[in-house]
Amino acid sequence: MLVGVSGIGFFSLCYRLFTNARWIYKMFIRSPKNLRDYGLWAIITGSTDGIGKALAFELASKGLNLVCMARNLSKLESTAAEIRHKFGQRIKIRNIALDFDKSGPTEISSAIHHGIQGLDIGLLVNNVGITNSHPKFFHEFEPEFIESMVRVNVEAAIWVTRAVIPGMMKKKKGAIVNIGSGSSATVSSYPLFTLYAASKAFMATLSRSIGLEYQSFGIDIQCQAPLYISTKMITELGTNILIVPVEAFSKSSVRWMGHNDPICCPFWWHSLQSYITQSFLDDLVIKYLFKTFLRMRREALEEKTGR
Ligand SMILES: NC(=O)c1ccc[n+]([C@@H]2O[C@H](COP(=O)([O-])OP(=O)(O)OC[C@H]3O[C@@H](n4cnc5c(N)ncnc54)[C@H](OP(=O)(O)O)[C@@H]3O)[C@@H](O)[C@H]2O)c1
Repeated sequence: MLVGVSGIGFFSLCYRLFTNARWIYKMFIRSPKNLRDYGLWAIITGSTDGIGKALAFELASKGLNLVCMARNLSKLESTAAEIRHKFGQRIKIRNIALDFDKSGPTEISSAIHHGIQGLDIGLLVNNVGITNSHPKFFHEFEPEFIESMVRVNVEAAIWVTRAVIPGMMKKKKGAIVNIGSGSSATVSSYPLFTLYAASKAFMATLSRSIGLEYQSFGIDIQCQAPLYISTKMITELGTNILIVPVEAFSKSSVRWMGHNDPICCPFWWHSLQSYITQSFLDDLVIKYLFKTFLRMRREALEEKTGR
């Protein structure tokens, strides 16, 4: 009996040591993939702000040419000018101005086909995403907003991926990174941002399943599920110790791209927060989030009604 218990104890200690060592290796030691091996161009959706823009800079620093997609042409042009200013003319940039909220499968597919004609696309980052401006109960969402959230957070990734994947299959290589979120991957529920979290759970399931489908075609598919990052999406939360600067996240994000980690949390501090939450604190964190979001909702309503 005693031998059995010590055996199990020894086995779980070894397992723990192994998983900790693997975490350290992946976070800090493992070499990044040379993303140019997949192809010379990367597509990034939602690349004029926040994570998408930071990723555009980071990928340009690795020598990748960029196809930048967002809805506002002047913001696309000024982002391209900033990238050229930093990296010179060696980085080629093509802009595709497209509002994912107002485009269906036909418009998205045709914009992609025209936009990437003749380009060696190696990497696709499905980054575009929106959330509700303040916490809301499910029944309070306007139907139009629900439709927008589904179009931007779910359908955009479907149609862009569907347009890009045949080219990758043909050349038998490619990488796709879908930006998910800790709101579905770290905590087991995310009240008052329910639709957002559910749309991000879709990204995780999509990635995991098509990752297996296209493995034999040499296409590496991954869902990155970060926690809070300093972008305009989360300005309501103010600043706090849990929020990671967007440039730091984008560096880690690129280091993980292409590796065989179907769902990952690339920044070490997020990953630690995730580990602690999932191991001991899920209930507590959800209760805390619910309380905080209820307060934010109340404040937003008071501000709206001028009270
Ligand atoms: N920030 C976080 O804490 C966090 C955490 C986890 C996951 N994420 C995910 O990361 C992704 C990027 O978030 P972010 O914080 O970087 O957001 P962001 O700062 O609001 O940037 C979103 C980008 O998407 C573009 N965009 C928005 N709506 C669009 C539409 N209808 N059609 C085309 N482009 C559109 C925006 O362009 P405009 O400038 O024209 O609006 C902008 O370039 C999202 O999928 C988000 O869910 C964010």
